[in-house]
Amino acid sequence: MPSLLASSFLVLLAVVSKIASGSLVAESFKIDVHSHVVPDFYREALIEAGYPVKLLDGQETLFTDGFPVSEWNLTEHIAAMDSMGANYSTLSVSAPGVNFLAGQDGGLAAAALATKLNLAMYNYTQAYPTRLGAMCILPLPDINATLAEITFCLDVLNFDGVGMYTNANGTYLGDSALDPVFALLNARSATVFVHPAAPYCAGAAIGYPDPMTEYPFESVRAMENMLLTGQRANYSQINMIFPHGGGVMPYLATRIAGLASLSFLGSLNVTATLAQFRGYLFDTASATTVVQLLAMKEFFGGTGNIVTGTDYPYVPLAQGKPGLAAIQANGNFSSSEMAQINNQNALNIFPGVAKKLGFAI
Ligand SMILES: *[C@@H]1O[C@H](CO)[C@@H](O)[C@H](O)[C@H]1NC(C)=O
Ligand SMILES: *[C@@H]1O[C@H](CO)[C@@H](O)[C@H](O)[C@H]1NC(C)=O
Ligand SMILES: *[C@@H]1O[C@H](CO)[C@@H](O)[C@H](O)[C@H]1NC(C)=O
Ligand SMILES: *[C@@H]1O[C@H](CO)[C@@H](O)[C@H](O)[C@H]1NC(C)=O
Ligand SMILES: *[C@@H]1O[C@H](CO)[C@@H](O)[C@H](O)[C@H]1NC(C)=O
Ligand SMILES: *[C@@H]1O[C@H](CO)[C@@H](O)[C@H](O)[C@H]1NC(C)=O
Ligand SMILES: *[C@@H]1O[C@H](CO)[C@@H](O)[C@H](O)[C@H]1NC(C)=O
Ligand SMILES: *[C@@H]1O[C@H](CO)[C@@H](O)[C@H](O)[C@H]1NC(C)=O
Repeated sequence: MPSLLASSFLVLLAVVSKIASGSLVAESFKIDVHSHVVPDFYREALIEAGYPVKLLDGQETLFTDGFPVSEWNLTEHIAAMDSMGANYSTLSVSAPGVNFLAGQDGGLAAAALATKLNLAMYNYTQAYPTRLGAMCILPLPDINATLAEITFCLDVLNFDGVGMYTNANGTYLGDSALDPVFALLNARSATVFVHPAAPYCAGAAIGYPDPMTEYPFESVRAMENMLLTGQRANYSQINMIFPHGGGVMPYLATRIAGLASLSFLGSLNVTATLAQFRGYLFDTASATTVVQLLAMKEFFGGTGNIVTGTDYPYVPLAQGKPGLAAIQANGNFSSSEMAQINNQNALNIFPGVAKKLGFAI
């Protein structure tokens, strides 16, 4: 009996220590930091606001920023995750977010739609707690309503992080108007997913879809503005994800750092500028080719800041699935590098997800 007792005690101890330390994560466990919801009420709000519905392949299709908005529902989202092999996704709302309501009803319209979207995303995370988390949508550029929404999402809805856009009605990240928002996010070491938006100058895309070329440059524009205004240096505790391989940042970083070192732009230290840019995370959505993956790895000096993103459903499954499957071969990544890209880098910036899923990090 005593030996049986002792061995049960040891088994119990082993179980407890496994719980305490969490279980190990499989290399292939994929966290998708970039996928979107399009609830029916949001689609209707966009149509009501005047976004065009055009015939595309015989289907009435809503367009935002010159790009078709795919059909979406929760069941289909989970089925797409299963098909792509995405284990966990942080949901967010793509551009234009609620920016198109900026200023209407003294800001109340944008705030109300943002809250409704957050409550809808909360419902999805409750329906699939081990598969879905969410990034809060904010009613920027309304600062007070934004501060309230951040607290609500992080403390009440237990969201994984916060979504922002490169600009909201022309207020770019880096603008000092956003300092109170950055101060709050910084104090909480929050993780922010920065989705590109249409640039705040009509006509830049010369009639083509904004996502094609303008979105990648928007990501660079936001990082550049945060550099030159000093906002990023000031609030460096925020984990910031830029999608699509950082736009064109890997290619332009040294050019921007060189220009920013000139006296008329503030004589910024080139090494420090590049270090600041390398402190961001970039996702793999539509950035899975050899050139894009090697550019990211070369830019960061490794794979420690690359996270998985799919941009589902705006990037349809037929395109997203083979893209995701090609990452290892195209990047010539080792299994430990794949573990970083698939989940380790994401778990580092989403400690709540690791905790929720019982993973040791
Ligand atoms: C979800 O979308 C799929 C594909 O568009 C469709 O077949 C299915 O009926 C939809 N489900 C619901 C509950 O709307
Ligand atoms: C992750 O997803 C893959 C593919 O769907 C599945 O085989 C695997 O069991 C999942 N892992 C966990 C821990 O759920
Ligand atoms: C949005 O931008 C327009 C044009 O600059 C400006 O008139 C309006 O006040 C802005 N709205 C908000 C809420 O900042
Ligand atoms: C969330 O779910 C609750 C309970 O099912 C429902 O009453 C509410 O309308 C849902 N909210 C949204 C925004 O979908
Ligand atoms: C924002 O909130 C602060 C503090 O609660 C208040 O002093 C300020 O007037 C508010 N600003 C606006 C534009 O509502
Ligand atoms: C830096 O942060 C402080 C405190 O929040 C703020 O007063 C200051 O304006 C910020 N400066 C920049 C350049 O963001
Ligand atoms: C730039 O910053 C780096 C690292 O902080 C430092 O070693 C270097 O001396 C600085 N260069 C100049 C010109 O100040
Ligand atoms: C792929 O990586 C391995 C291990 O680092 C290296 O030996 C090999 O040369 C690489 N292949 C290509 C095509 O870059």
